[in-house]
Amino acid sequence: MTATPTTPQAPGAVAPAVLLHPVKGKVIAVTSGKGGVGKTFVSANLAAALTRRGLKVLVLDADLGLANLDVVLNLYPKLTLHDVFTGKCELEDAIIKAPGGFSVLLAGSGLVEYSRLTPEVRDDFLRLMEDVVPRYDVVLLDTGAGISDVVLFALSLASEVLLVATPEPTSLTDAYATIKVLSTQQRRQRIRLLVNQSTRSGDGKAITAQLQAVLNRFVGTVPGATSGAKSTPTVRLHHVGDIPVDQAVKDAVMRRQLLLLHSPGAPASVALGQIAARLEETVIRADEAA
Ligand SMILES: Nc1ncnc2c1ncn2[C@@H]1O[C@H](COP(=O)(O)OP(=O)(O)OP(=O)(O)O)[C@@H](O)[C@H]1O
Ligand SMILES: [Mg+2]
Repeated sequence: MTATPTTPQAPGAVAPAVLLHPVKGKVIAVTSGKGGVGKTFVSANLAAALTRRGLKVLVLDADLGLANLDVVLNLYPKLTLHDVFTGKCELEDAIIKAPGGFSVLLAGSGLVEYSRLTPEVRDDFLRLMEDVVPRYDVVLLDTGAGISDVVLFALSLASEVLLVATPEPTSLTDAYATIKVLSTQQRRQRIRLLVNQSTRSGDGKAITAQLQAVLNRFVGTVPGATSGAKSTPTVRLHHVGDIPVDQAVKDAVMRRQLLLLHSPGAPASVALGQIAARLEETVIRADEAA
């Protein structure tokens, strides 16, 4: 199966850096504008929560240059994505089971050749995704932060983007910048927003509304078909839930354990379980995601 670009270009238009061309299947890219907001924590524990719900899940460490999913899961892989890309091993040999029962494909850290989107990285990554995605109910991509071309390429392959942000102004500014790029360059029309480390109930709803209002103003809306009809936003944010700031998360990370196994009753674990249920219903089992 070949991924084809879904964004036809108007004649004379400037070529977007990375077009949206999702690989067929359910691929959720977990990303953020600012680093260190909890992408890897969310990817690993969401995978565990989805596995508990009976889904076959793979987490792919798509932070190719600076991967650390192995650290969070306390895994010591003998073979990584690098070995698959260089033909040293088969894909099957590099996929390992994580403590939560889901599969992981780890990248290995410090590989400077993956910090730039060369044609080789692009082709290797695309081929890998086309090979691996059909084998799972859902593939989570734990990406790097920001809007580098490697990150944007990983996001372009995903059917859904799950943007993680914290309520801090710096995180929100960077989240806005990421959404703007995804909307203008990749023409992505829907982005799921997860607010991590929330301190007040209702944080996420308020942040989503606030970001949506700024997007409508500066990225735009599409006018309604008839005069008087409501205009629709060019890009729409879907709030998937909040995860509270929780000391149990830090304890689990320090012990290199999954929060869901370390503290299943902690508020952050409960929130992750609810978000997994929502994603299963609206994204993974839905024919056409809402
Ligand atoms: N809900 C939470 N409550 C408390 N601490 C949290 C929470 N979520 C994340 N953290 C803290 O934030 C740290 C960074 O998380 P993580 O490594 O998942 O971020 P990241 O976005 O993947 O970072 P990077 O951009 O470097 O890949 C964790 O080690 C943990 O200490
Ligand atoms: Mg990370």
